[in-house]
Amino acid sequence: MKKRYRNKLVFSEKALQERVKELTCLYEMSEFSQKENLTLSELLSYFVRLIPPAWQYPYLTVARIKFNKKSYTSRGFKETSFRLIEKINVNRKERGTIEVYYLKKMPYVDDGPFLKEERKLLQVISRKVAIDIERIEAKEKIKIFQEQIRHADRLATIGELAAGVAHEINNPLNSILGFAQLINKNNNLNEQDKNDVERIIKASLHSREIIKKLMYFTRQMPQDFTMVNLNQVIRDAMYFLEPQCKKEKVTVSYNLDDNLPLIFADNLQLNQVIVNIVVNAIQAMQKKRKLTIATHSNLQSVFLGIEDTGVGMSEEIMRHIFNPFFTTKITGKGTGLGLSVVHGIVTNHKGKINVKSKEGIGTKFEIEFPVKTN
Ligand SMILES: Nc1ncnc2c1ncn2[C@@H]1O[C@H](COP(=O)(O)OP(=O)(O)OP(=O)(O)O)[C@@H](O)[C@H]1O
Ligand SMILES: [Mg+2]
Repeated sequence: MKKRYRNKLVFSEKALQERVKELTCLYEMSEFSQKENLTLSELLSYFVRLIPPAWQYPYLTVARIKFNKKSYTSRGFKETSFRLIEKINVNRKERGTIEVYYLKKMPYVDDGPFLKEERKLLQVISRKVAIDIERIEAKEKIKIFQEQIRHADRLATIGELAAGVAHEINNPLNSILGFAQLINKNNNLNEQDKNDVERIIKASLHSREIIKKLMYFTRQMPQDFTMVNLNQVIRDAMYFLEPQCKKEKVTVSYNLDDNLPLIFADNLQLNQVIVNIVVNAIQAMQKKRKLTIATHSNLQSVFLGIEDTGVGMSEEIMRHIFNPFFTTKITGKGTGLGLSVVHGIVTNHKGKINVKSKEGIGTKFEIEFPVKTN
């Protein structure tokens, strides 16, 4: 065989090997991305490991995918000055990057030490990553919507049941209370009877409180809607809550937007929202005790944020917090109705509640009230 011809053969064999490596990498990526219920971080941490073997010098190659403020790296990752980089564009928005590094200086070929085929391969990989991310994010969004619909459905069913119970119990309860108070007025009662009647009165009052909360949750309370300044409601509510904060050594800081538009709301009901969330926050805080209350607005909405540095909640707990009678507190400490009341009132105001919580860090409730435009 002539030398030139042999060299050409060796060269094309090498090129073929490179091509096989590229195809293997893409094939394995496709295979993996077909898996059901794949999360983004599972996908990206697997993909990043498939990149180095597809490059000319696999043992000197490391890779990194940066996405959503997270970094995924291949084994032995280190930054050097020999780098190829591609953007990850999801829905035409730059969301991250993929980088490939050589750990050592290698002979210069097309694009520094990298082949032009390698630059192309990285472009193909970044497009594949973007498509897979798009698909996974769409699936995650659908899942969240479905969960929200299920949650709203469940709350509506519980609401109907609770509305019926509250309504049916309210009248007989008022009779019990009324008659007990009548008996109590009788001066001829002996000590024992007086004590018993007072117990009936106390228990009835307690039950009435619960019924009242259930009525807030099921939106059966009489209401008085006027144009209201949310900042003023906060100040009025906190006037009564600050002594409790002081007693519990909770520092309160306010970040209230002075130019807040008025909202069409029931003053008393908004007061209930603030009281219930703040009381929960105070009860949740142990070591660090900082409560932040903030308001802000845009053209459509007024936002109320109440943030604590308390124990936080697990995702499992968060799923139940608006259900009536759900409580993690010891018997006698909580009835589990506070946030149900909040939910009922916010729904009544056509608002939305968003809760963010991290265990050991704290919780933030953000409530959005629509600004009335007509
Ligand atoms: N800021 C918070 N930090 C941590 N957990 C919270 C917070 N707010 C609410 N929770 C959790 O949500 C549960 C339900 O709260 P909710 O206010 O409805 O009832 P409760 O506080 O237990 O009783 P009640 O308000 O009727 O006295 C609480 O028991 C607690 O587990
Ligand atoms: Mg509570």
